[in-house]
Amino acid sequence: MDALVCTDCGRECALTEPIWRCECGGTLDISFTATFDRQQIDRYGSTMWRYRGAIPIAGDNIVSLYEGCTPMGTLSVHGQPIWLKFDHVLPTGSFKDRGASVLVSKVKELGIRHIVEDSSGNAGAAIAAYSAAAGIRCDVYAPKQVSAAKLAQIRAYGANVHLCVNRELAGAQAQWDARGAYYGGHAWNPFFIHGVKTCAFEIVEWLGGAVPDSVVVPVGNGTLLLGMYIGFCDLVKARVTRRMPKLIGVQASQCAPLQRAFRLGRERPSHVFGKPTVADGIAIDRPVRGRQILKAVRETHGRFVAVTELEIMKAFDRLCLTGLYVEPTGAVGLAGAAKYVRKEHPDEVIVTVLTGHGLKAPEAVRAWLDEEA
Ligand SMILES: Cc1ncc(COP(=O)(O)O)c(C=O)c1O
Ligand SMILES: [Zn+2]
Repeated sequence: MDALVCTDCGRECALTEPIWRCECGGTLDISFTATFDRQQIDRYGSTMWRYRGAIPIAGDNIVSLYEGCTPMGTLSVHGQPIWLKFDHVLPTGSFKDRGASVLVSKVKELGIRHIVEDSSGNAGAAIAAYSAAAGIRCDVYAPKQVSAAKLAQIRAYGANVHLCVNRELAGAQAQWDARGAYYGGHAWNPFFIHGVKTCAFEIVEWLGGAVPDSVVVPVGNGTLLLGMYIGFCDLVKARVTRRMPKLIGVQASQCAPLQRAFRLGRERPSHVFGKPTVADGIAIDRPVRGRQILKAVRETHGRFVAVTELEIMKAFDRLCLTGLYVEPTGAVGLAGAAKYVRKEHPDEVIVTVLTGHGLKAPEAVRAWLDEEA
């Protein structure tokens, strides 16, 4: 039966419960059988909702801004082609639209009129946009260091912004203030991840039904990595595909709790005090789904890669010089893929995701250009 399932104690709850974590404090997953009916998929057109048989939302409640079906292109890195998925061109400029569309659809389905969310910027902008589309009140808690462009975008969608001392306190404050509303913190929310997973379906469709050997993604709270894991699992379970890709998680060396835990063979990340990084979207000291992320990477025979600030900005430069404009966090996947290819020389089909648009981070781009000049 479809249910919310605790990843710690296994307790099950109905999908209609407006909860964000288990009584034991554990994160929630969704137990749900995804279906892929070729004719229906084609009939539903060119948004991620073409895969609605694989998304746990009733049809009438979809809140959509025509997200998904982003293109892919290749770039040669150390002589090897790397596939890039252009999620920076989604409606609010980041991959978070996939998650926000499903999360806000769920809130609409529950008949709740108020969402509270915490974010480093992009998820806040995405949830603010979809809340506006659904006519739902939205409060976003963000660290005071949030990029001015992201802040303006969140406010422009009509959300109330609350600036907090740092990313962690933004989460704590949002959870506290969400009593009486729906807490939509995307790190916790399983519906968000079941939106992000559509990225995996689109990759397979773009590659003509083939599963890539490796999928390389930036990891902060891990919603993209776990979305890929669940998406590729759904396809295997439905016998659309036969195998999983290796999942390669990329973190900034300045803040790499998961890469460290992976290297040390640990089951859970320990708390690190991350240093500031140009990849502000993945600066997460304590990822709440850390154990789940490490398990997914190990199970797929993947690994973690840490990239320096310089490696991130070199990947950014490389993308710019081919006409692709992403924010620094959006270049982390390519930086990780370049390092993976250079170190291990795998003869593989590799996909990475451009996760956020360059117009989101003008301050970081200007600082880098001034430094280079
Ligand atoms: C542009 C961009 N890329 C990647 C990520 C990482 O996503 P996650 O925290 O789900 O791992 C974020 C998160 O905010 C982001 O904004
Ligand atoms: Zn539990």
